[in-house]
Amino acid sequence: MGDILVRGGRLVTGQGILEADVLARDGVVVAIGRGLRAEAAVLDAEGMLVLPGAVDEHVHSREPGMTHKEDFSTMTRAAAAGGVTTVADMPNTSPPIDSPERLLEKGRDVGGRAYVDYALFAALTDSNARRLEDLRRAGAIGLKAYMGPTTGGLGRPSDWSVLLALRFSASSGMPVFFHAESGELIEGFSSELRKAGRSDPAAHSESRPPISEEVEVARIVRLAEHAGGRAHIAHVSSAGSLEIIRASGGAVGAEACPHHLAFTVEDYDRLGLLIKVNPPVRTREHREALWRGIRSGVITTLGSDHAPHAPEEKSGDVWSASSGIPGVQTILPFALDAALRGLIDLEDVPRLLSENPAKVLGIYPRKGSLAPGSNADLVVVDPRGSWRVREEDLFYKHPEVSPYIGMEFRGRIVYTVLRGEVVFREGEVQGRPSGRWVTRGDVR
Ligand code: NCD
Ligand code: ZN
Ligand code: ZN
Repeated sequence: MGDILVRGGRLVTGQGILEADVLARDGVVVAIGRGLRAEAAVLDAEGMLVLPGAVDEHVHSREPGMTHKEDFSTMTRAAAAGGVTTVADMPNTSPPIDSPERLLEKGRDVGGRAYVDYALFAALTDSNARRLEDLRRAGAIGLKAYMGPTTGGLGRPSDWSVLLALRFSASSGMPVFFHAESGELIEGFSSELRKAGRSDPAAHSESRPPISEEVEVARIVRLAEHAGGRAHIAHVSSAGSLEIIRASGGAVGAEACPHHLAFTVEDYDRLGLLIKVNPPVRTREHREALWRGIRSGVITTLGSDHAPHAPEEKSGDVWSASSGIPGVQTILPFALDAALRGLIDLEDVPRLLSENPAKVLGIYPRKGSLAPGSNADLVVVDPRGSWRVREEDLFYKHPEVSPYIGMEFRGRIVYTVLRGEVVFREGEVQGRPSGRWVTRGDVR
């Protein structure tokens, strides 16, 4: 099991592109080079690109408790189809994952239903901020701090709790991811807009303007400069936030999401509440700043923020509709398309979507890398092919709420390989769920 020879492809890693075969034994890469021979299943990659499997550092499987939106099986099948071989799942569930007991229970419970490998976040709260070592030992990959209101209603941790978490991060290496938006400002802007009678989808973006993100980004940057640790700002969406992060000179990492790179407020007319998301989509100027942030290196990772909801939750009143966009199956196709169109370099794709997320999560080079000793997680892509996204291609529980339907991406994922086993082949998810729980190297 897990023996495979991927032959004749062009290997794309953050370090460059080379013609090479990849040989794996027992799910681990043992050799990279030309003309390799071995007794193993052969995957013909002639004319294809071979990339490390994507590590999606930010998904919401909705387990436990919100499985009418999505579940671990549907989410990880979609991941496999999208070339994502490791997902890191967020804790804003019902109940939230905020204790070692709940984390352990979730890790065991989802196990038999995972089609790709998975890591689990724990929520930072005022009640657990003094017991973070217990969460680490239970297997948490990182902490998530919800500084502002979003799906799940987890309360904001105090500045002191954040500081304790950053100190813990500095000593343990465990990352702290932040949802950076100010609840106080959002409440003020929202009540003004509601009083003015606004009910159009664009009112959502106006209720969470750039300043509501930037004040929190500035606060997190200062706390991280003070305490150290690995702070990582999720779903950065505004040009001003990027300026603050750039000025911090590497004190914090930054994640961008495809939906902020793909959509703007101009798309509300066409897509309505399907693109209601936190932080919201913004104007073209902000979108362009995000692309520049990727090229300049201020944005260090891409994450999908795969945040599925049921169709009835994504329609109706702008103020009560749910925020979030599904995207685990489209993140790698989106990034590959950008590279094949020349918006970014091809090497940027594994750097932003495999290597850097694995480094942030502390699982590199086991994950996110294609080198001897790494897990044989890889994707084979036909760069001459393309994919026009159709509802029936998406493996989500509610594919119809994807705003990417109808979009055409250059490049086509042909195979996804997880630890040497083909888990997706030519449109079909293969075999039984064999995903494993991935924890930081020194635990479990
Ligand atoms: C996410 C969700 O639905 O879980 N929603 C969103 O709009 N991004 C929560 C989050 O990441 O803030
Ligand atoms: Zn968030
Ligand atoms: Zn999220």
